[in-house]
Parts: sequence; structure tokens; C-alpha cells
Amino acid sequence: MSTTARTTAPAPGAAKARDLFPPPPAFAARARINPSSWTAQRLDDAAADPLGYWEAAADALEWRTRWTKVLDWQAPRAKWFVGGTLNATESCLDRHARTWRRTKAALIWEGEPGEVRTLTYGQLHDEVCRFAGALRALGLDKGDRAAIYLPLVPEAVIAMLACARLGVTHSVVFGGFSAEALGSRINDASCKVVITADGGARRGQVVRLKETVDKALADGACPTVTNVVVVRRTGHEVQMAPGRDLWWHDVTREAQPVTEAVAVDAEHPLYILYTSGTTGKPKGVVHSTGGYLVGVARTMRWVFDLKDEDIFWCSADVGWVTGHSYVVYGPLANGATVFLYEGAPTYPGPDRFWSMIARHKISILYTAPTAIRTFMRLGDQHVKRHDLSSLRLLGSVGEPINPEAWRWYHQTVGGARCPVVDTWWQTETGAIMASPFPGMTPQKPGSCTKPLPGLAMDVVHQDGSRCADDEQGFLVIQAPWPSMMRTVWGDDERFRQTYWVQVKDPATGAPWYFTGDGARRDKDGYLWVIGRVDDVVNVAGHRLGTAEVESALVLHSAVAEAAVVGRPDEVKGQGIVAFVTLKDGRQPSEALVEELKRQVVGEIGSFARPDDIRWANALPKTRSGKIMRRLLRELATTGRVTGDMTSLEDFGAIAALRPSEE
Ligand code: PRX
Repeated sequence: MSTTARTTAPAPGAAKARDLFPPPPAFAARARINPSSWTAQRLDDAAADPLGYWEAAADALEWRTRWTKVLDWQAPRAKWFVGGTLNATESCLDRHARTWRRTKAALIWEGEPGEVRTLTYGQLHDEVCRFAGALRALGLDKGDRAAIYLPLVPEAVIAMLACARLGVTHSVVFGGFSAEALGSRINDASCKVVITADGGARRGQVVRLKETVDKALADGACPTVTNVVVVRRTGHEVQMAPGRDLWWHDVTREAQPVTEAVAVDAEHPLYILYTSGTTGKPKGVVHSTGGYLVGVARTMRWVFDLKDEDIFWCSADVGWVTGHSYVVYGPLANGATVFLYEGAPTYPGPDRFWSMIARHKISILYTAPTAIRTFMRLGDQHVKRHDLSSLRLLGSVGEPINPEAWRWYHQTVGGARCPVVDTWWQTETGAIMASPFPGMTPQKPGSCTKPLPGLAMDVVHQDGSRCADDEQGFLVIQAPWPSMMRTVWGDDERFRQTYWVQVKDPATGAPWYFTGDGARRDKDGYLWVIGRVDDVVNVAGHRLGTAEVESALVLHSAVAEAAVVGRPDEVKGQGIVAFVTLKDGRQPSEALVEELKRQVVGEIGSFARPDDIRWANALPKTRSGKIMRRLLRELATTGRVTGDMTSLEDFGAIAALRPSEE
């Protein structure tokens, strides 16, 4: 790893006066946390007594049995709320369905073609109980795993919660992943059931999800799968394998509702979510039930200043962690009204987002910098055509947001009256870790401000010593937190090696959690996350391991070797450039460029399509045989190579690298 992070992130540094945005007074006056609120007092206590802070946060959930100990920490193994039992759906549904919220909207969904469905807490509770009954009838039980491969329709939320109600660990796979990627995830977690749909609506087309599932399961490729449950969404014809495939509407009609949720241990795995790392094989990040819910419920309430009358829209798909934590578990644990949208952000026109905000009176919008930059390019007129006065708070997640995009979001979308919460976190952290409190923390465009209470985070050198103000180093987390990932599914050692060996407390030798991000801390203690320092790229807010793309490329019969790097991209944050050497007798061609791009789409999904393929006679390597990625990154970014090349095995390799277009 190197401390030189690589993205289009803002140049950090001390903010100028015009770069400081104090919370608007009208917002602050009504905020849950403002400088004079009782909660603000408690924030100071959190630093002195983090366990007390988290224990108080846990009190906001519904437990079957109270814990006897807040934390058992045998690094890197954490158990939070030891001895506590609960079921996530009781906190997210049952307790609301018992009150006036029974008739409050839990989900307001808009399909891409324009239809709208609303489910109240009472209705969502009933649907979840029924579908849990259907899964139970298919033989699913506490401790089993089910894969969910759905478009963003209410059934995706229902399916996740139905699994949770039975103590079944769900593994949601984003609908953009290919059959190969889906199949390997199903097998890694030995899923018994796959829940999918005939298709989803995207950009006016049908995404044929069932067909992809069929491909993934073909020829007994996923031997643990006994059944596939299919939601009828688009209505086009699909193949139903007799005895294996069942329609959602049939199995739920016959189901016996699970009115009594299955209590699980606080540490029981609520879900597995695969994410990219530095090797070709994605990691199954395992999240707990109790600690995870505590983290997402608390951050949902405080970071988003959530009130009962809010209509909250997190535009992420449920296939990513943001969708798990801030479309499903965080909002529902707080009894919030969640808006969901199925389709493409600019379909059928560039103002789709703004039209939905105006029509549904959305009050909080949480989206990604890539989307913000796309809208910014499309022009202000599309935003200004709509009445966005319902908005009171804006959020950003997934990548560094450049100050220009931040300002546009604040001014053009938020009318300068909405604070912007730039939230830093990861699949592994489960919940937001660094963010302003919108009614209290002055914001600086491009900074996620400070770690939230109860957390210990800092910017350090590789030896663990603290970086000076404005000095770039590694972002680390120095103490366990409730929503932290518990392990890599089936690979404890990988969990330790990936996160817990890189940086240690220099005073005690205790391991710290290594985020993989480079950052700086300014003189006010604000964090400026620059981007990944490992071989992970962040393309349009989608995290990808360069090794995954390389593995996909070398499967092609023409490819001898491939090296993949990220390069800055004005809209997507980063784009993908692949340097490829061909086998003897194979010639570069435009047709081969397209074939290789298709190969990556087939192995991973369309979001991983390389932007550029470049041919090389040989890849530049060190004497020990490591590909010189720094050099390739530089070449991908600037087209030139500078710096020290003395450890190059083959200088000729550099000269041979040239854009495929040439
Ligand atoms: O590099 C950081 C970037 O996204 C990475 C985590 O990606 P993923 O696990 O897919 O989760 C994304 C949604 C939480 C981080 O290591 N990242 C996320 N949020 C921010 C960010 N970089 C800068 N600022 C952020 N607010």
C-alpha cells in the first residue's frame, strides 16, 4: 500500500471562510441535535464512555432478552450486546404496527414506468409475515442462507425482512451482476433459495433477471439451491423449471404467516454482502443483527435528523450496503417513511429525480456524487422546473464529493436552505462513521467533517504514529464499533489479514482497523478522505477490485496477461483502464477491444465495463515480478510516465504501451 491515494478528490487543506457552511439557523433551531439540545451534551460523554453511549443507543431497539455485557473484544473478534436476543423485524415492523404507525406509510414505491405503490407499516408487516411463511414452507430455517436477486421493488424489502424474521441470513446480489458473479455468490454462501423476478424495468427496457438466474443455476452449477421464487414484475414470458421454480404470488397465497418472529442472538448474521477487495474473489462481508441495527438506527436518526413527518429517499439500490442500511434497516427501525424508485435516474427525461421529489414531497435526499455530477452536467433548468421546497436535508455517500458538485447540490438542489451531510463509511463499517450533524456541525465542501460519537478514528502513518495536520496518511478505526463487520463469510483468516494487520497502536501493539482509504485531517480536526490506497477502484460509486476485472480478462482465450488500474473521471469519479498483453499469434483489433469489454460485462456486470483497453507487448514489472501499477496508473491518467523506473525488468515494455485507438 502507498499513502498516495488516487481519485478526483478535492485538494484538501484549510478551508477558506467562504468554504465554511454553518447549519442554516432555521434548520438548526428544529434539529434533533443542535448546540443547545440535550443530545449535544451527551456527545461529550460519548468520548469518555463509548460503551455507555452505545448501550444507550441499543435501548432504542426492541430486544427479547437484554444483554449482560456491552462488548467482548478479543481483537479482531467482537461480540456486542453479549447475551442479548432479538429479531430485527420486531424493531423494524412489529413495534410500529402496534401503534398509530400501523397506518403510516412505510414504503412509497415508484416503478420506472410510473406506477406507484404504498405499503403502510401494517401492510408491510403482514406481507413480511406471509412471505416468511412461504420461505418456511420451502424448508428455510434459522441459520440457512437465501440469495435475493431482485430489481428495486417492494418485494426486495419484503424478502430481506422475511429472511430476517426466520433468522435466515440473506445475501442480496445487485441486479446488475452477471450470471457468473451471481452463481459464485450463491455457491460461496451455500444458498438454498434464490428470490428473483421475471425482470426489472430499466431505461424503458426489461432487465431479464430470471434468465440470468437460470444461467447461473444451469447444469447443476449451484447444487445447494432447491427453489427459486419469482416475482412477476414485467409480465414477459419466462421459463419456470418444474419442481424448482415457484411464483411469489402462489407461494404467498398458500402461506401460513409467521406471526411470531424467531429470536436470534445479537451476534447472529443478519446478512452477507459481497464486496470487492484486492484479490479476484469478492469477500462476503458478514454483519450481525444486534450491533448492526444499533449502528444504523442511531445514525439514521441523528445524521439525517429524522422526524416522523419526513419522507426519506436514499437513491441506492438494495444490492449495495447503502440500500441495506439506509433504504431498509435504518429507516424502518425508526418508523420512517421510505421512498423507493425502481429505474434509471434520467429516464424518461433528465428531470425524473426532481419530478419525483416534487410529486412525493420528499424531504431528505441521500444520493451519490456521481449522480450529482451527472445532474449538474445536464443543466440547472431541469431542477428549476420543479418545486423542491419539500427538501430540508441533503446527503452524499460513496465517493469523495468535489467542492464544485457539493456547492451545486447545496445551492441548486437545496436552495441554500438544506444542510449537506457528506457521510463516509464502507460496506465493512455497516453504518455511517464520519459525517456532520446537520443542525450542529459547520460543513466544508469536500470534507465528511468528523467521526461520529462513540467512534475512534484518525489519520496515521504506516507505523501507527499520528499524522500532522494536513499531512496525508491512512484512515484507521482505533476501537471496535457495534456495526462493524464480524468476519468474511467462511474465511476468518482473510478477515484478519485484510483489515487487522496493516496498522497497529504504536504504544500497545493492539491492531487497528485499516480502511483502505487515504485521508488528511485539517487543523479543525475535519477529515478529508482522498480515496483508496489499495487496488480497489470506485466507479460511479460502485466498488470494484482491479484484480476482479483482471481475472475476467484473462479468461479470454486471446489474453496472456492483464493489469487494470483506475483513472480519474469527471463524472464517475474513476474509470477503468486495462493494459492487456495478447497470446502469441493474436493481434490487437477494435473487434477484440469490444470482445474484451463484453467479456468483463459477462463475468462481472455492465457497471464493470472497462473505459479503455490498451495493448502492451509486456507489462512493466519489478524484479520480483510485481506489476508496476503506479506506473500504469500514471500512464492511464496522463499518457506519460515519470519517476523512478530503475526497478523495471523491461524498459521496452513502457514504450510498447499505447492507447488502443492509435
Ligand atoms: O473509499 C471510500 C468511499 O467508498 C469506499 C467504500 O465503498 P463501499 O464499501 O462500496 O461503500 C459505499 C457506501 C458506504 C470507502 O472506502 N467512500 C464512501 N463514502 C465516502 C467515500 N469517500 C469519500 N467520501 C465519502 N463520503
